Amino acid sequence: MILKYLISTILLVNICYGYKVLVVFTLPGKSHGILGEGYVRHLLKAGHEVTYVTPFPEKNPPKNLRYIDVSENTKCLNMGIFDIKVIMDKEINLQDQNVIIPIMDNFWECTLKKEALQRFLYDQNEKFDAVVVEWLYSELGSGFATVFNCPLIWSSSMDPSTFVLSLIDEHLNPAYTVHHMSKDYSFSFLDRVYQLWSVARVRYYKWANSNNENELFKQLYGPIVAKKNRELPEFDEVKYNASLMLGNSNIVAGAGIALPQNYKHIGGYHFKEEIEPLPKDMKEIVENAPHGVIYFSMGSNLKSSNIPDKLKRELLDMFSEFKETVIWKLEKTIPDLPKNVHISPWVPQQSLLAHPKCVLFITHGGFLSLLETLRAGKPIIGIPFFADQYLNVNRAVAKGFAKRIDFGENVIPLKEAIKEILENPSYQQRAKELSVQFNDRIVPPGKELVYWIEHVIKTNGAPHLRSAALHVSWYKKMYLDLLSVTVIALVMIFVIIKYLFTFMQVDTHQKKKVH
Ligand SMILES: *[C@@H]1O[C@H](CO)[C@@H](O)[C@H](O)[C@H]1NC(C)=O
Repeated sequence: MILKYLISTILLVNICYGYKVLVVFTLPGKSHGILGEGYVRHLLKAGHEVTYVTPFPEKNPPKNLRYIDVSENTKCLNMGIFDIKVIMDKEINLQDQNVIIPIMDNFWECTLKKEALQRFLYDQNEKFDAVVVEWLYSELGSGFATVFNCPLIWSSSMDPSTFVLSLIDEHLNPAYTVHHMSKDYSFSFLDRVYQLWSVARVRYYKWANSNNENELFKQLYGPIVAKKNRELPEFDEVKYNASLMLGNSNIVAGAGIALPQNYKHIGGYHFKEEIEPLPKDMKEIVENAPHGVIYFSMGSNLKSSNIPDKLKRELLDMFSEFKETVIWKLEKTIPDLPKNVHISPWVPQQSLLAHPKCVLFITHGGFLSLLETLRAGKPIIGIPFFADQYLNVNRAVAKGFAKRIDFGENVIPLKEAIKEILENPSYQQRAKELSVQFNDRIVPPGKELVYWIEHVIKTNGAPHLRSAALHVSWYKKMYLDLLSVTVIALVMIFVIIKYLFTFMQVDTHQKKKVH
């Protein structure tokens, strides 16, 4: 009897609870791996079954997790283009979306053709309740939802941009938002014109490239869907059909803009719930620092070998003039370090930032680092070098907890900035205030992530959350049709009046003649 009861309970739990979710994060970049892993961790914890398409599979996955290993695709994307040296030498302009979009389309094409994915996509037995796909400048990943005939959930890795919002709602208004690739942050007349131009360029480029992308979509997914005896919808019907956009974003890191109901901020879901204590050797350094710790890390893109020796020396000399202890994250150490400087190839960033002794973070301004800083409430010096890092740092400066230094400047402005932040308590204070705003939430972001994915599944794609603006033409939204009708009517009235006047004049003229 008890056994029977147990078995039926287990069956019931299995039937009612665990959904099958497909998580697709194909980019072979470290921060994208961290973001994908966050989804997997939260979904597993909530009892769901996860299939994870990733270039970073791990050995011995936990129960309910299966990897589809696409690590072959590291060859699909020349990661060398993200190298600081290439960017500094301006060999490629990564601030230009027209450069990035074809790179990402090609990346998807190459990845989808890899054997592991082909086998997976053609498998008739694979079924999912929902698919989460990371968006990055290409919508080709949306085809997963078509193949498995399930709701599509986009994941966006940055602050809501005009690109991702136009997929579920409409473009951002450039009058008060900054294009996420912009290096400047200002709303003067000329800047607003420039911002408008940026959005127009996005629209134009997407339009000009659409034939190309439609063809690619048909080529890549057509045969797979045909094998499942279904017809392939148009690419537009698929890519604009997302149930949800989950954004690795947060209002405190971004700007107060109107968002559609199916955009959800879940920034910070990659955090570890409990801040882990520092490892023993680093803990000793931090706790014995008499004047606090400055943490210096340029993320995973800046390799030690790419920093000229002369610059390294100058930086070390400059750091040695401070009383504070400096922890510099660098994969290779440098000889003759000053007493107060420590180099470490690996730093548990969240733990170090959270430590009360940490007084300043010098960062490249990557979005994950920025979110971690906001959680910890520490001021920053941002040295942005590509993509959205400029915008992230510019906003931090505008919010009053940061200073920006441009790469290629010598070390003197950096020294001045460090002095300013250490001596002027306003930066510290602002960082603390923002951290209160950031951490005060109704539920942790990981819980919200799970809730919304479950909601989409329970409501068959959450049609009620979709924006009314999505399929309305831009000229209707701007009432350009009304404007043209009004202009035509006014012109017609003007012409008629003019005609009547001439007619009357001619008439009186003739009458005069008769008399
Ligand atoms: C759009 O999404 C809904 C809900 O997930 C789904 O039922 C429908 O088949 C999708 N349509 C297309 C063309 O993908």
